Amino acid sequence: MAQKPKHEFGGPWTEIKLDAISEYLDFYQNALKNRGFETWYVDAFAGTGERHAKTVIGGIFDNAPVEHVEEVLAGSARRALAINPPFSHYWFAEQRPTRVKALEALREEYDAEISIRRGDANEQLRLLFASSPWENHRDHWKQRAVVFLDPYGMSVGFDTLKMLAETKRVDVWYLFPRKAVIQQLSNKVSRIDQDKRASLNRIFGCEDWEERFYKAQPAQHTLFGGPVTPESVRMATGDEIAAFARERFGEIFDFVSDPIPLLINGRDFFELYCFSNNPRAFDLIKKGVNHVVKKYTPASRQRSDP
Ligand SMILES: C[S@@+](CC[C@H](N)C(=O)[O-])C[C@H]1O[C@@H](n2cnc3c(N)ncnc32)[C@H](O)[C@@H]1O
Repeated sequence: MAQKPKHEFGGPWTEIKLDAISEYLDFYQNALKNRGFETWYVDAFAGTGERHAKTVIGGIFDNAPVEHVEEVLAGSARRALAINPPFSHYWFAEQRPTRVKALEALREEYDAEISIRRGDANEQLRLLFASSPWENHRDHWKQRAVVFLDPYGMSVGFDTLKMLAETKRVDVWYLFPRKAVIQQLSNKVSRIDQDKRASLNRIFGCEDWEERFYKAQPAQHTLFGGPVTPESVRMATGDEIAAFARERFGEIFDFVSDPIPLLINGRDFFELYCFSNNPRAFDLIKKGVNHVVKKYTPASRQRSDP
């Protein structure tokens, strides 16, 4: 039998992220049961369904030798499949073929309606929400989804968020890659090459970031007297950059949660947000989301080691 691919990623902060999502999924399914909706769990960066993690056990406090062990933990897909009551539909997208195979094997274990798509998350989401039953179906109004966007880096286009907002029927949990975005924003604007610029435009959905983050410095003279061309330098702090992203999300979603900060070695790496654009459900959504954010924010600050 072919060996399952190992998917090694994350650390304690990953468990916090997955605990927060699972708790919301549980809340959502219980809040929406018996209301006549068809509920979807949409995981656009699904991985394999599992997570291989290396942990250290033992040490002086346990009075045992230190050992490095590998654990297999449930990833987002497997955790979602364990929610009770179950979702009416599960939809997973993944780019890597070996991981798609692992998801197909996972599907065999469950008696649930599971669709698996191979390809880019942005493209696949667009196809899902433009097709039946989300469109051109007499039951389109019944469809509700929680969409989880869990990329490694800057793979989610702002256009994708906008498309999701326009459905007005989905709640989106988005792992915003704060550190990766800040890293693209070099101190001098001249250092931002075309590729970086394109990925920043894509993630913010605009070009205004340059004006907001950079200020032209007056021309200076070198030691040898020659003038140096004026240079635009980044004045915005990490928090200001993150606040700009949040402002952008607020332009397309009516509800934007406080983010759960996810730290590695005490430094902000990601921010986990929930967005919604379904005004009739706001009170309910806010109740569930605010509970989750309040519960997991302190945990994320305490357990930040990699
Ligand atoms: C952080 S992992 C997801 C982990 C998963 N949510 C879990 O908890 O088990 C990100 C996954 O997205 C996949 N990926 C990366 N870029 C992608 C893209 N543009 N579209 C779809 N999947 C992508 C990677 O192969 C990887 O498996």
